[in-house]
Amino acid sequence: MSTPKQPPPENLSFLDQTLRPLTWGEYIGQQHIKQNLHILLKAASERKHPPEHLLFYGPPGLGKTTLAHLIAKETGVQMKTTSGPAIEKVGDLASILTNLSSGDILFIDEIHRLNKTIEEVLYPAMESGVLDIIIGKGPSARTIQLELPAFTLIAATTRIALLSSPLRSRFSGGTFRLDFYSEEDIAKIIARSSSLLGVDTEQSAIEEISKRSRFTPRTANYLLKRCRDFAQVNKTALSLDSVRKALSLLEIDELGLTATDRKILDIIVGIFHGGPVGLNTIATALQEDEATIEEVNEPYLMQIGLLERTRQGRVATNKAYEHLGYDLPSERQEKLL
Ligand code: ADE
Repeated sequence: MSTPKQPPPENLSFLDQTLRPLTWGEYIGQQHIKQNLHILLKAASERKHPPEHLLFYGPPGLGKTTLAHLIAKETGVQMKTTSGPAIEKVGDLASILTNLSSGDILFIDEIHRLNKTIEEVLYPAMESGVLDIIIGKGPSARTIQLELPAFTLIAATTRIALLSSPLRSRFSGGTFRLDFYSEEDIAKIIARSSSLLGVDTEQSAIEEISKRSRFTPRTANYLLKRCRDFAQVNKTALSLDSVRKALSLLEIDELGLTATDRKILDIIVGIFHGGPVGLNTIATALQEDEATIEEVNEPYLMQIGLLERTRQGRVATNKAYEHLGYDLPSERQEKLL
């Protein structure tokens, strides 16, 4: 067993930047997306044209922003980053668009939170490279058209269903769904991050963190850092034993559920007899934001088969009953829920 090496001085944002892959070779997983992007980028570069607009969607922490950075790096252009909620007025978007240089990438995170009026300004900008600006009010109002530099919009969202179809259809380069990672790929990411952080993590410890990482690189890196803290403070190695202790202190269970995930299931099973129960009812009982439950907690609970979304509401599966240690009610015993 080896003890962790002395960690480098750090602040957290610097740390997150350090762990982010900087080349396609370092980017593990999402093979399909990578292959499609390679073709798209190569074809665009051969035609000496900026790539067409791209949309990435999927649960948080799977690497949507990282893909945008890699595309900018490969294309050798500047990337300007903003987000749906940061663009409050039409003028904000107009100023971002008119300040782009030819070939730049504009990355808009959380595009589903873009206000509808602003969305409409984006359509002609995406489609024809022009900005329609209305000057004046009432009968004397007139529209002027500004020619924009050629640019590529890359947008990311955790909630594709909230995007209007006119907006979705303008991502002519393609819409890509990021999938959860395999446990093996998460283990590779943890091994890579350990070496970047300068810590010696035993293979069994890597596998244990991987099992509890919700198939999500951001969670894996977060848990690795917390386990490293634990090992450092307790002057132990990053071993299976210390990782288990650190994760139990963080209330992350063997399936990677957080205390909030378990509370969600507990509300459905314990109070609402397994459901169906509406999201708003769960959110009220939990005093948590509906969108957070829907975007952060539910995708993973559904992925591992503990929760189902039905028209009538959320339903806990038999596996959820077992995981929480509840006896299965008799009416569920013969049902394959
Ligand atoms: N860190 C975060 N996401 C990653 C990925 N897909 N590959 C490697 N390291 C990562």
